[in-house]
Amino acid sequence: MDSKDVAPTKVRRYDYAAQFGDDLDELVDDLKSILLSGEYILSEEVGRFESAFADFIGVRHARATNSGTDALIVGFRAVGIQRGDEIITHANTFYATVAAIVLAGGRPVLVDADDRSFLIDIEQAKSAVTGRTRALLPVHLYGKPTPMEPMLAIGRERDLLIVEDAAQAHGASIGGKRAGSFGTFAAFSFHPSKNLSAAGDAGALVTESDDLAHAVEAHRNLGQWVQNDHRLLGINSKMDAIQARVLFTKLKSLERWTSARNEVAQAYRELLHDLPVTFQSNDLGEVHAYHLFQVRTDRRDALAEHLRGLGIDVVVRYPTPIHLQPAFSEFGWRKGEFPVAERLAQELLCLPIRPDMPESEIVFVVNGVREYFGGTPT
Ligand SMILES: Cc1ncc(COP(=O)(O)O)c(C=O)c1O
Repeated sequence: MDSKDVAPTKVRRYDYAAQFGDDLDELVDDLKSILLSGEYILSEEVGRFESAFADFIGVRHARATNSGTDALIVGFRAVGIQRGDEIITHANTFYATVAAIVLAGGRPVLVDADDRSFLIDIEQAKSAVTGRTRALLPVHLYGKPTPMEPMLAIGRERDLLIVEDAAQAHGASIGGKRAGSFGTFAAFSFHPSKNLSAAGDAGALVTESDDLAHAVEAHRNLGQWVQNDHRLLGINSKMDAIQARVLFTKLKSLERWTSARNEVAQAYRELLHDLPVTFQSNDLGEVHAYHLFQVRTDRRDALAEHLRGLGIDVVVRYPTPIHLQPAFSEFGWRKGEFPVAERLAQELLCLPIRPDMPESEIVFVVNGVREYFGGTPT
């Protein structure tokens, strides 16, 4: 947390200039050489980022794609998901988690969220396993890592793949082991909104498996390992060198940024604890990546309006749960089926959280929330 003390008049959700900091000039020089080299797609630059990201997560391989959604799709195709194979995930995730299942040919099976952690309800996930289930797909939502031991235990017992949607959880960990390193594979997003962000869409799949990493190389590259020899029905989803260079530069700061996000979150928790709001649980032994900081209140919409009026960029993630999204109407889910997900959709509000947030902005946001609830300023 930076303690520059200028009274803010607004609080943003992102500050891209701060993300580049002193690295910008060197990065721009490197981008210029990439532009002149013509080595635009995959290339050594992407290979270098893949190795660095795999090391950061603590796995053998990372394979870079055009987006986090594609990392999921390519991964499902590479592990051989067949039409009708069931994949279990939770109703309060982001659209892309479930769209990827469907686009890869699988059948999404939803369970509800846990009311405390806002993550997959593990008991419900266990009960939802059938003879057609191929995979469990927990989402480390908002940056909080899903307790993976119970998920892995269900996987071992029922012979299932465990896939992590780690799109929001770069740098999160449990017992020192990074989110993304537990499952058969994990998908990360580097969308500009994410804790590690490209200058456009980008994503990666990470895995311990040599075979899976090899299969992904063809699945992301039109089915070919060798040019013009299309061995399988692949899509076209390769990262480009410019994104890889941006990501390589930012990766060096990610650990520091995660600690800074945790400091902001801790300040919010302490300075708002006496108000009628609750927070996503924070459990012993985990590092939350705090992609988003959620406050929960049954007066969410009015609070949002109040804070927006003060210039504070709050946002709702996500206002409509998966089972009520029109795109998924073919699955016949009904209103009321996943009550926790429905309540969360009405009660959660994301306060701005950035690693570069000065104390003055944190206090400004806190006082905005306190003012709404009639509390004394901090
Ligand atoms: C939970 C979750 N899954 C998947 C994705 C898809 O990532 P992308 O936007 O890079 O396709 C995102 C990000 O948008 C996400 O938040």
